[in-house]
Amino acid sequence: MGIPTRQVQLARQPEGQIRASDFRVVESALPKPGPEDILVRNEWMSVDPYMRLGLGDRKGFLAPLQPGEVMQGAAIGIVEHSLDPAIPEGSRVLGNMGWRTRFIARPDQLTPVSSDVPPHWHLGILGLTGVTAYLGVEDVLAPQPGETLFISGASGAVGSIAVQLAKLRGARVLGTCSSPEKASWLLQEAGIDAVSDYRQETTEAFLAREATEGVDCYFDNVGGPILECLLGKMKPYGRIALCGAISQYEAGDYRRGPADFFSVIEKSLSLRGFNAFLLTPQENADIVEWLKARAVDGRIRPFETIVDGLDRAAEAFARLFNGGYLGKVIVQIHE
Ligand SMILES: NC(=O)c1ccc[n+]([C@@H]2O[C@H](COP(=O)([O-])OP(=O)(O)OC[C@H]3O[C@@H](n4cnc5c(N)ncnc54)[C@H](OP(=O)(O)O)[C@@H]3O)[C@@H](O)[C@H]2O)c1
Repeated sequence: MGIPTRQVQLARQPEGQIRASDFRVVESALPKPGPEDILVRNEWMSVDPYMRLGLGDRKGFLAPLQPGEVMQGAAIGIVEHSLDPAIPEGSRVLGNMGWRTRFIARPDQLTPVSSDVPPHWHLGILGLTGVTAYLGVEDVLAPQPGETLFISGASGAVGSIAVQLAKLRGARVLGTCSSPEKASWLLQEAGIDAVSDYRQETTEAFLAREATEGVDCYFDNVGGPILECLLGKMKPYGRIALCGAISQYEAGDYRRGPADFFSVIEKSLSLRGFNAFLLTPQENADIVEWLKARAVDGRIRPFETIVDGLDRAAEAFARLFNGGYLGKVIVQIHE
C-alpha cells in the first residue's frame, strides 16, 4: 500500500505566459521509512517568481525542470516519523523537497524551525522573502531619514516588507503596483507615502509629481521599463538595489540589462545586485533573528495571501506574473 502522497509535476514546457495547465497533480505512494529516514507532511508551501526561471528556455540561474519532474520550492512541514532526537516527531521543519504533500528525507535535508511564531512565517517574513527585503533595504540601500526611496512591486511579498523597513529608517517611501485596491492597501496598511498604479500612469509622470528633486534609493523588484525610467530619475550618487526582474521572467531574454545605462556613469550611481541564496547559514540565521525581533513586537507586519490546497498551487504560481497578489503567497496543505 505505502504512504499516500501527491505532488505537482511539470506537465509540459510552458510557451510564453505560464498557465496552470502546464502542471499536473500526481498521486503516488512512499515506501516505509528506513531507520535514518524522516517522514514529513507539508503544511505550508511557498510560491515564488524565481521558480519561473527553471521552466522553459531559460539559461542559467536554475537547472531546467523537465516534464514529469516535481516543482521545486520551500515548504514547512510536520515530522510524522523520525528516530532522530534532533528532529523529533511532531516538530516542524523547513524542507526544499518540492511541491508535495508528504516526502521522505535525510536529516541533513531538513532545517528545524522555531515553534514560537506561526509556522508559515518561516516562508514569508522570516523566510526568503523577509531576508531579501532586509538585504535590499538594510545592507544595500541603507536609506537615511528624509531620503526618497522608490520600490517597484511594492505590494508583493518582498516589496511589502521592504516598504515597512524603509519607513522604519525614516525614508519617504514611494512605489508602484497594478490596481487601485493594491494602492489603497499600500497607503492604509503598509504605510507607503505615495503610490502609482503603473497600468494607469507612467512611472515618469508619477515621479515628476512626487519626486521633483529625484530619487535617492531604488529597490528594484521588476527590471524592465520601470528600471529604465528610474535610471533617468535618480539623483547624483543615488543607490540602486537590484533584487529581481519579474517583468522580464516570462521573456526568453530575461537576463537582458536596461537601456540608458550611461546614466550610471553620468550620475555616479551605485548599482548592487544581491542574491539571498548565496548567504551562509549563519548569515541567514542572523538576519532571521533581526527580522523576528521586529515581527514579534509588531514593528513590521507579515502580509500574506493564503491559497487553499495543493491543487491550486499551479494557478497561484501563474498569477504571480499576471496581476499578482497582496503580500506573500503561501499555499496551505491539509492532507
Ligand atoms: N535577489 C534575491 O535574493 C531575491 C530573493 C527573492 C525574490 N527575489 C526577486 O524579488 C522580486 C519580488 O519577489 P516576490 O517574492 O516579492 O514576488 P511577488 O510577491 O510575486 O511580487 C512581485 C511584484 O511584482 C509586481 N509585478 C509582477 N509583474 C510585473 C510587471 N510586469 N511589471 C511591474 N511589476 C510587476 C507584482 O504586482 P504588481 O504588478 O501589482 O506591482 C508583485 O507585487 C522578484 O523579482 C523575485 O525574483 C530576489
